[in-house]
Amino acid sequence: MRQRLAVGNWKMHGNLPDNLALLDKVAVAAGGLSRAVVAVCVPFPYLAQAQSALTGSKAAWGAQNVSQHRKGAFTGEVSAGMLREFGCRYVLVGHSERRQLFGENDATVALKTAAVLSAGMTPIVCVGETLAEREAGITEEVVGRQLGVVADGIRAEGLQVSILAYEPVWAIGTGKTATPQQAQAVHAYLRDFLGRRDTALAASMPILYGGSVKAANAAELFGMRDVDGGLIGGAALVAEEFIAICQAADG
Ligand code: PGA
Repeated sequence: MRQRLAVGNWKMHGNLPDNLALLDKVAVAAGGLSRAVVAVCVPFPYLAQAQSALTGSKAAWGAQNVSQHRKGAFTGEVSAGMLREFGCRYVLVGHSERRQLFGENDATVALKTAAVLSAGMTPIVCVGETLAEREAGITEEVVGRQLGVVADGIRAEGLQVSILAYEPVWAIGTGKTATPQQAQAVHAYLRDFLGRRDTALAASMPILYGGSVKAANAAELFGMRDVDGGLIGGAALVAEEFIAICQAADG
């Protein structure tokens, strides 16, 4: 049976007191789940706080970005080794905001994925099409290309411990969620794409859906055959919403 996950992506939100209240609630809620893994990907400065609040709980934490470089003169960058020191289990790579606003391309995403793996953490590789790409009928071509470059750039053992997230760009932060059928269709395509390389890998790879997941739509989305949980932005900042989504992922 594939792993089920609910991963919060806080983006650039938070402050120390609000975070603490939220982290404490997430820690308690994670303890009540039977199979879903819960994690929060927080801004870099809050990693120490997440580590201290969640250590000893069943909730994990992670980062939203990483440098592809190991160390050196890269002002403002943060290496995978540094994230590891703060106990991160997960690192988001290739989020559409990184691609669109910070110029990350498929090759950068592949390098970052490899950096996360070599530091012993789990990359959550994000792929997704824009509205224009969907309307042009090239969704599969786009997500296949994004995934293909990463899959080519890392070793098979790396892919086996990675997680994939399908996040249609038009659904992120817009309140416009993909229908369960739309999500399922792309998830099935991604699994099939992986299956052409390795059937066991395709069967075991968790594929998360992200894009306006809420307590109200999570169960229906996560009930689809190839949807193994969610990557949650806005709703991950509201304890009750996020906890309900985690429970939906737990099935
Ligand atoms: P959203 O963001 O849930 O606010 O749409 C999801 C994401 O960007 O990971």
